Amino acid sequence: MADRIRVAVVYGGRSSEHGISVVSAGSILGALDPEKYDVVPVGITRAGRWVLTDADPASLQIAGRTLPEVEKGTSVVLSTDPSTSALVSIEPGSLAEVLESVDVVFPVLHGRYGEDGTIQGLLELAGVPYVGPGVFASAAAIDKEFTKRLLRDAGLEVGQFAVVHRGRPFSAVDVQHLGLPVFVKPARAGSSLGITRVTDWADLPDALEVAFGHDSKVLIEAAVVGREIECGVLEDSDGRPIASLPAEIRLLSGHDWYDFEAKYLDDACEFDIPPDLPADVIARVQDTACRAFAALDCAGLSRVDFFVTPDGQVVVNEINTLPGFTPISMFPRMWAASGVDYPTLVDRLIASALRRGSE
Ligand SMILES: Nc1ncnc2c1ncn2[C@@H]1O[C@H](COP(=O)(O)OP(=O)(O)O)[C@@H](O)[C@H]1O
Ligand SMILES: [Mg+2]
Repeated sequence: MADRIRVAVVYGGRSSEHGISVVSAGSILGALDPEKYDVVPVGITRAGRWVLTDADPASLQIAGRTLPEVEKGTSVVLSTDPSTSALVSIEPGSLAEVLESVDVVFPVLHGRYGEDGTIQGLLELAGVPYVGPGVFASAAAIDKEFTKRLLRDAGLEVGQFAVVHRGRPFSAVDVQHLGLPVFVKPARAGSSLGITRVTDWADLPDALEVAFGHDSKVLIEAAVVGREIECGVLEDSDGRPIASLPAEIRLLSGHDWYDFEAKYLDDACEFDIPPDLPADVIARVQDTACRAFAALDCAGLSRVDFFVTPDGQVVVNEINTLPGFTPISMFPRMWAASGVDYPTLVDRLIASALRRGSE
């Protein structure tokens, strides 16, 4: 099995979505064919330490309401010397030791320091091909302000918004034209963390406070009235974007919007793949997903999230460049419904990373 592809699955990390990342990694590790891949599981602790783990996929699952965490393992760093592309053991008290080089990295990381261009920059320096978009697209897509600006410039529909920076002057009067309710959200977070739906201007200061707990930049967005639709994008073997069947997320009673609990912990939503929408609207969602992917210069994969208004407008909400990969995550489910099962999906992502790496 000498010619197996050595793939480092990097997961966990310093973001608030650490636990979700660990669950995603558990599924990916379980789906990588050992005949084909020599898998090196690399966890990143919440403090940012990289550790080689034994990563039994069974331990990387949600237990009740508790998300798993990266804890122990041999400390390693990735060498930024592109002639080796190796993991180097830096266990305290031992000499540094160069471990095997890796062929490709699958960063199964969500949010800050994972999906935002920072690790992509490290991987560029190290000269290792990696799954997913590059530095620019990752940094642009994690930032809900710049995502909207780039999409708008490409002629795509986005909602109205205002930007507030911590410590800079801000007057609530300047945002009241957005109308109530507004969504107050950290510019660069995910999993609905730090987001408040504000229905009374008196609650705006508290909502800003919550969002500023996650980021120094916050968006205040006009609420878009519409159905929540998501669409997966992959690349074909020539690097052109292709869209999955979209999905609709329908919230069951008790939830006004798609918050953290609804996403991961409760049986709060139902999913329709494809959504019950006219064929031309579905086609527009798929076309817009591919155009959004191209507008941000994405590569490999992305999940594009929309609101589809009652009059059929397709409004882009956000782009996730490393979307959730848990067994219940939308991205793998939409692809499964489109005829690409989970192991095939993982294979295609690694193949497209290697293809880009060889260009
Ligand atoms: N402008 C908006 N109008 C209506 N609902 C919104 C708006 N912004 C966010 N939401 C609701 O909040 C959820 C999370 O917001 P989103 O911007 O997707 O952040 P995250 O990156 O955390 O997923 C959305 O799925 C939707 O239910
Ligand atoms: Mg979202």
